[in-house]
Amino acid sequence: MTGARPWQGICREFRDILPPVPDAAVVTLLEGNTPLVPAPRLAARIAPGLELHLKIEGQNPTGSFKDRGMTVAVSRAVAGGAKAVICASTGNTSASAAAYAARAGLRCAVVIPEGQIALGKLAQAMVHGARVVAVRGNFDRALELVRTLAEDGTAVVVNSINPDRIEGQKTIAWEIADALGRVPDLHALPVGNAGNITAAWKGWTERDRATGGGTPRMMGFQAAGAAPIVHGARVEDPKTIATAIKIGNPASWRGALEARDASGGVIDAVSDDEIVAAYRMLASLEGVFVEPASAAGLAGLLKLGASGGLNGAAVAVATVTGHGLKDPERAVQVSGAFETVDADLDALRRAVLA
Ligand code: F0G
Repeated sequence: MTGARPWQGICREFRDILPPVPDAAVVTLLEGNTPLVPAPRLAARIAPGLELHLKIEGQNPTGSFKDRGMTVAVSRAVAGGAKAVICASTGNTSASAAAYAARAGLRCAVVIPEGQIALGKLAQAMVHGARVVAVRGNFDRALELVRTLAEDGTAVVVNSINPDRIEGQKTIAWEIADALGRVPDLHALPVGNAGNITAAWKGWTERDRATGGGTPRMMGFQAAGAAPIVHGARVEDPKTIATAIKIGNPASWRGALEARDASGGVIDAVSDDEIVAAYRMLASLEGVFVEPASAAGLAGLLKLGASGGLNGAAVAVATVTGHGLKDPERAVQVSGAFETVDADLDALRRAVLA
């Protein structure tokens, strides 16, 4: 393509719908503008005749959707004269905060639940120079501690309790509708701390007010061992292999309920086995490698499709939230063994043709 205007990142592209950021304060890695990729083979597994598209957020600069909101939060922190940012994280927020803070020249501290972060995300936070602190506790406790610690104002909290994060993340609605040429009937996504479903719904409703076109039904899916919204009660000790959404007391709980109820959608639970099955299908049927949590939305559509719960929806979009290379250990673990042979042609031929 020639002559196309280069993409300028979330703060500049969506200036009209975002809180003000002075141009000199913009901290961007040119995030956003991620591909919307048709997924016909997966669609056929979900429901006959369904049109399915994947919004591949793993193609953001740090490999997850967090960059959309982080550019706004860090830019606004810079504009406000902040010297440091802090977050609690299951991994992706910390990777994104560390990268944008590095770019802005801000100090960054990330607080993570000990032993529960996928390797790629930890590597990111460390290489970008964040102060990484693991707490002997879960994500919910880490967030509680960070909120209290930051009360004195020494650092700006860049979790999704920061409204600038939600503002940045809402932009996904415009990108999906523009790429699709319409508003989908369903928008499926994983739910952890529930910032993303809150943000996407805010985007859809604002876009509908501005330009019409309606809103999709929001289809949020939690991991069965970490499904407080589904059960209507905090989970003290959440459990799931999808570490990104291993959260028992979501900060944006109310936003998620509002998205569900106002859109006529659902928030349901999917088991780890269903998540892994969807994760493998994405990779093997569509060539799309995501981290396990990112497959929860598809796992949910597969589950509802099988039980006739999609009510004849024609067009669905699933946000796949983070890149598969974030969690290489899980990919290797679920994919079985590979063979090692002597370095000779016959042995190789036998192995390849087996
Ligand atoms: N998918 C991925 C890959 C995530 O990292 C997260 C959240 C979610 C889905 C759920 O989004 O929390 O807005 O409902 N990760 C946060 C973190 C909690 O710290 O990186 P949510």
